[in-house]
Amino acid sequence: MAFNRPKIALIGSGQIGGVLAQLCAQRHLGDVVMYDVIENMPHGKALDIAEAARINQSDVKIWGTNAYNDIEGADICIVTAGVPRRPGMSRDDLLTINATIIKTVGENIKKFAPDSHVIVISNPLDAMVALMQYITGFPKNRVYGQAGVLDSSRFATFLAWELGVSVKDINALVLGGHGDRMVPLIRYANVNGIPVMELLKEKYGSSTRAREVIEGIIARTRNAGTEIVALLQKGSAFYSPAAAAIEMVEAVLHDEKRLLPVCAYLQGEYGVDGCYAGVPVILGKEGVEKIVEITLNEEEQKMFTGSVAAVVKLIEDLIRLGFLPPQYQYEKSRLELVG
Ligand code: NAD
Ligand code: LAC
Repeated sequence: MAFNRPKIALIGSGQIGGVLAQLCAQRHLGDVVMYDVIENMPHGKALDIAEAARINQSDVKIWGTNAYNDIEGADICIVTAGVPRRPGMSRDDLLTINATIIKTVGENIKKFAPDSHVIVISNPLDAMVALMQYITGFPKNRVYGQAGVLDSSRFATFLAWELGVSVKDINALVLGGHGDRMVPLIRYANVNGIPVMELLKEKYGSSTRAREVIEGIIARTRNAGTEIVALLQKGSAFYSPAAAAIEMVEAVLHDEKRLLPVCAYLQGEYGVDGCYAGVPVILGKEGVEKIVEITLNEEEQKMFTGSVAAVVKLIEDLIRLGFLPPQYQYEKSRLELVG
């Protein structure tokens, strides 16, 4: 009986890819192959991480490559190949250049790791997940994206700072596309079951002030990526996105049945039939095992479908640019979607 460690392929070994590799090694998640187009860079990063094996008490294998055949048989492919934003850029501005990259990446994953799960991180996230699924042709439960775990963690962190409580006691969900129209769900945000709005009203003694504060937190959550891009100047967030992706990897590899916000394919859920977007899912060994359809009130539903409309626009751009075929099936009720 063969006891093999899972094989994790990192397609893209830049800022996020490097942190992913280190976290995989430190958490003993599996053997890691780091791929990138930059000659020898993944080899150097892998060797650097490997030399901490004694300190990490980790016997996982980790190596770098510029050859796609080295991802042969990977169980999970995590895709960060692409370019990040620069100040003044939106995630959507990355569409053409990153779609070109994702097309090549998807073709090689299909060839060398046909049974893998694919977790896409590259932006514009939701559109890149849709393109990855189309290019690989993999079942939609095995192609999904990381954004909601990051956005929800940002939302939770800002709430914890405002309320002066441990972030460990915060539950917060952000749904929709990974863009400026993402949907932090105030109604579902709580501190060990206590709605955050109750705690804000108690803190400020006023519903009006509480509302102003939560609106500020929502705005900061939506702008959090841009805030970091402005500070870094030469790239975007990478520690927190990597940590978010690792939470998803552990859910899959350990069959944890986690309820997490994941960019998943909607087939009627939330009133959307044919689009990837961030929704609560059950994540386990089969990938997206179930989409959890929670109740949204009228305002939340309008924000959600407005957020999906922004994704639909990118899908239409991918069709116009020839990355997706004219007959690609997607949610067409755009008029109802625009919120
Ligand atoms: P980075 O530039 O540090 O790393 C990207 C790597 O991709 C580079 O090393 C580059 O050489 C490599 N690459 C380029 N073309 C490639 C190809 N054809 N095949 C394989 N590798 C290729 O960028 P980063 O900070 O790691 O961000 C990566 C992507 O993730 C960006 O698109 C960024 O916008 C996105 N991102 C997403 C989230 C999220 O939550 N979904 C968060 C932050 C960043
Ligand atoms: C960014 C990530 C957070 O572009 O998507 O900043």
